[in-house]
Amino acid sequence: MDKNLTMEKLVNLCKARGFVFQGSEIYGGFANTWDFGPVGVELKNNIKKAWWKRFVQEDPMAYGVDAAILMNPRVWEASGHVQSFSDPQLDCKSCKYRFRADNLIEEKFKDVDVERMTTKEMEDYINEHKIKCPHCGNFNWTPIRQFKLMFETSRGTVEGEKDIVYLRPETCQGEYVNFLNVQRTMRAKVPFAIAQIGKSFRNEITPGNFLFRTVEFEQMELQMFCHPNESMDIYNKYKERAMNFVEELGLTKDNLRFHDHEKLAHYAKAACDIQYQFPIGWQELNGIHHRGDWDLSRHSEFSGKNMEYLDPYTNEKYLPNVIEYSIGADRLTLAIMSEAYEEETLENGETRVVMHFKPFLAPFKVAVLPLQKNLSEKAKEVYKILSKEFMCDYDEAGSIGKRYRRQDEIGTPYCVTIDFDTLENNTVTIRDRDTMEQIRLPIQDLVSYIQKAIKF
Ligand code: GAP
Repeated sequence: MDKNLTMEKLVNLCKARGFVFQGSEIYGGFANTWDFGPVGVELKNNIKKAWWKRFVQEDPMAYGVDAAILMNPRVWEASGHVQSFSDPQLDCKSCKYRFRADNLIEEKFKDVDVERMTTKEMEDYINEHKIKCPHCGNFNWTPIRQFKLMFETSRGTVEGEKDIVYLRPETCQGEYVNFLNVQRTMRAKVPFAIAQIGKSFRNEITPGNFLFRTVEFEQMELQMFCHPNESMDIYNKYKERAMNFVEELGLTKDNLRFHDHEKLAHYAKAACDIQYQFPIGWQELNGIHHRGDWDLSRHSEFSGKNMEYLDPYTNEKYLPNVIEYSIGADRLTLAIMSEAYEEETLENGETRVVMHFKPFLAPFKVAVLPLQKNLSEKAKEVYKILSKEFMCDYDEAGSIGKRYRRQDEIGTPYCVTIDFDTLENNTVTIRDRDTMEQIRLPIQDLVSYIQKAIKF
């Protein structure tokens, strides 16, 4: 990560180059929502594909699902969300802005362990230390109240008779409720995993850290169902797999660390985060949780369905334990963009901004650039060949230097230039984003050259 990188620079680059736009921008935006643009959607899709490949495709013990976002409301009673999924929030009576109490304390006093504080303790702390409103500077707070984080909507066919339903705040419940279905249809033997990628929604107040915390986001979650005796080994294995995965995607060791939780949920046997050093500092990137048999026992209780597993070899009947690995696709995209960013000073003293994405993650694998407009017919032929295999950009406007800079800023690993020699001998130059070196290749070798470089 470039030491000059700030969140503001990244937001500006994302906006200028089509990675991410403010949600509902023409209406003045909509707080904590972001829209992925043509470049960003490719990056995020590649990240999701990489996760699916490592954790589902290549694992004979893992099965994918795509469960409904709207679930029977009893699911959220069983999971405990209806009762206790809330944030401690308070309003400034002067300017009417709302804040999370824990954030207010953390931002002023970095060493305080707010996770361990009760609502009353947070209120006392804010009063004792006279923490002022970050927006208007007054000290004029309402008491702290618990705000529910689940978005509610309603479903009903008869006017006036509506049932509350919730937009799911996490995807994993779709994996728990399908435990029996997947086990039966796939003839799966414990230990096995169910994974999915999908949207989650939380009515969170955030200090506006771009993609880091949003009200609508995608999660990549995996639940490993296992025997209690092997659960700790599997938990440790997933810690390692999760760390290897983010390193493979290009995050560097210096910016990654484990954070083991000291305070555990009453049912949990162990929990940890992988933290990443974002431009806003060290923050959670993903979680790995040993959840005991809490989830399956709660769903057994609330649904009335026995969710025990009968081991076909030992005849033992038991409720499997769950090891959960959960990572936000948007948050990981933010980490990968932060890591990839570099302001490089060139020999001639100019600066170029380069996004050094691993080639398999790059939004476009190759850009086709005719040196002059009258070479565009040949260039379009080359584009046609390459775009059948890869996401490919085509650009014939402006000087070649400016076109290279644009591709550097969106992280395109290769630029193919069509010149007058191409018309003579069907060869092109291919420029490497990182070294800026160019070599000449026959058009017919391009696909295999690029394919080799983008392998994951
Ligand atoms: N099922 C467990 C679960 O949802 P979590 O720690 O609340 O656990 C898991 O969320 C991951 O989802 C986080 O580590 C983060 O990567 C991502 N995430 C959570 N809330 C988010 C938000 N508001 N915006 C973006 N990503 C979020």
